[in-house]
Amino acid sequence: MNAPFEPVTDLCDFVPQTAAFAAESEAAQAIHRETPGRTSRAGDAASAATLLERVFDVSFAVLDAEAGACIRRPSDLPDMDWDLFAAIARPLIGSRTPILIVEEDPLCVLAVPLQGRSRSCVAAAPLVTRRPEPQADWRAAARAAGCPPAALAEWAARQRAWDPEAALRVAQLALEHDFQLRRLADVERETDELSFHLSSVYEEISLLHRLTQNLRLSKSDVELARSALDWLAEVIQAEGLGLLFLPVAEAVEEHGTVTRTKPELLSVGRFPFSAEEVRRWGETMRLAELGGPVVRNLAPDEAARSEYPGIRNWMGVAVTEGQNLFGYFLAVNHARGGQFGTVQANMLHSVASILGIHGGNIELYRQQAELLAGVIRALSSAIDAKDPYTCGHSDRVARISVRLAQDLGYSAEALTRVYLAGLLHDVGKIGVNDAILQKPGKLTEQEFDQIKTHPTTGYRILSELRDLDDVKQVVRHHHESWDGRGYPDGLAGEGIPPVARIVAVADAYDAMASTRPYRNRMPLEKIEEILRHGAGKQWDPAVVDAFFHAKDDIVKITEADEINSLSFPTLAFGKQS
Ligand SMILES: [Fe+2]
Ligand SMILES: [Fe+2]
Repeated sequence: MNAPFEPVTDLCDFVPQTAAFAAESEAAQAIHRETPGRTSRAGDAASAATLLERVFDVSFAVLDAEAGACIRRPSDLPDMDWDLFAAIARPLIGSRTPILIVEEDPLCVLAVPLQGRSRSCVAAAPLVTRRPEPQADWRAAARAAGCPPAALAEWAARQRAWDPEAALRVAQLALEHDFQLRRLADVERETDELSFHLSSVYEEISLLHRLTQNLRLSKSDVELARSALDWLAEVIQAEGLGLLFLPVAEAVEEHGTVTRTKPELLSVGRFPFSAEEVRRWGETMRLAELGGPVVRNLAPDEAARSEYPGIRNWMGVAVTEGQNLFGYFLAVNHARGGQFGTVQANMLHSVASILGIHGGNIELYRQQAELLAGVIRALSSAIDAKDPYTCGHSDRVARISVRLAQDLGYSAEALTRVYLAGLLHDVGKIGVNDAILQKPGKLTEQEFDQIKTHPTTGYRILSELRDLDDVKQVVRHHHESWDGRGYPDGLAGEGIPPVARIVAVADAYDAMASTRPYRNRMPLEKIEEILRHGAGKQWDPAVVDAFFHAKDDIVKITEADEINSLSFPTLAFGKQS
């Protein structure tokens, strides 16, 4: 059997012309340039040449027809003038048809162009064209082949004979077969690349879909990130993944709005960095200014010299929205000892973008909530300023209402709305004449009629604020009576909005428990008696029950010196569900 070919790096460049292999080919050409005296190119000529060897049962030399040189000289063939053959084979460059470059009975030399990137490689082998007589004269053939006649005769004696025409046809078939195999390999490789790409895209879309399903303003950025972190670490195959949230504000705003005042680091897997280290790293890498992900895969010697031993590779991106910087993502060490690439970086960037948008929305929402809270505080101060004798009444009613609602099982979100309703319940008094509001003595019937307009006036004042639709109903109906004898609409029982029934009890209690210019505060026993007597007549009995459950706390509220000394839930201005 013939000698096998040496490793493919010794042969011609038969690299398929895809981007993925272009770099390898370029590298091979560089090696070729930098290795004087040796024609060495990467490629898979071996497959085509090996196929020819199998078919013809003879070793093939490989010639570079462009350079006019033999680049693979099989040792089991007679020592022929291969460089001459390379020069003769020059017309084969770019061709796909085998030819005979020597025909000297009983010998021919078959030359087959190999379908390579350089298109200048040719496989060539001597073939015996008929079984010669024992005493045949090999001199002419040996001269044509450039080798000693004896060596040629000895080699020819071991070879099978080929009809030249048949040899050309077989070589052509072998070439076409090889070409089909090569095409098939290309298709398989492209299919693999495509399916890898598709699975990456699928994973990215799944992750983003899962994230966007969780995009609710009621969900904090930290909550949203926590739900994404484990899955993201798995998808990008990172040993450790950290997400640092930077502080949003220097200090907590008043009246309970929640903001982050300290850095917060979330991490999964083996994540070796502290919050401060991630912050410094993000600033050093200027990630916020870059606006995109940064990937570093360290060479082993780089990793060994690194400030952080054990870190082989990392990638990071800033979490931003517009000019706002919310934090940094940092993934460390590919879990399978591989490298981070475009796919992982894109996923990290996509998640960071969504978190950035969410953070931006939360910040806008917080600012809007603060603005509205400021307006509401200003309104409530305006009411108190109109009627100095009832100073602090709105705030106390708000807090007593919250305490009653807690007892009645309201959610934290609903308590916020109760608080607002309490603060604003008397906002309509802005439209009542000061002289009537501040009159120290008993009111006339006309004066009382004017006071009774304050629920509808308040309702009108708030009418343009769609965010306060539920609060408006409380403002309008906080003087309705359980038995239907209240005002302005004479609603009764369950027909009265529930929070209005709560505020009604809080309002009545605070009025009775406060000292007025024309009377002292009532003793608690008297108030309790009035409330007990009015349950089921003026007030919702369930709310009166709640009063007695929460009585101790409520008494403390009225006696507290400090207004706003209690903390309340985050102010939320969406509609109460
Ligand atoms: Fe009122
Ligand atoms: Fe009131």
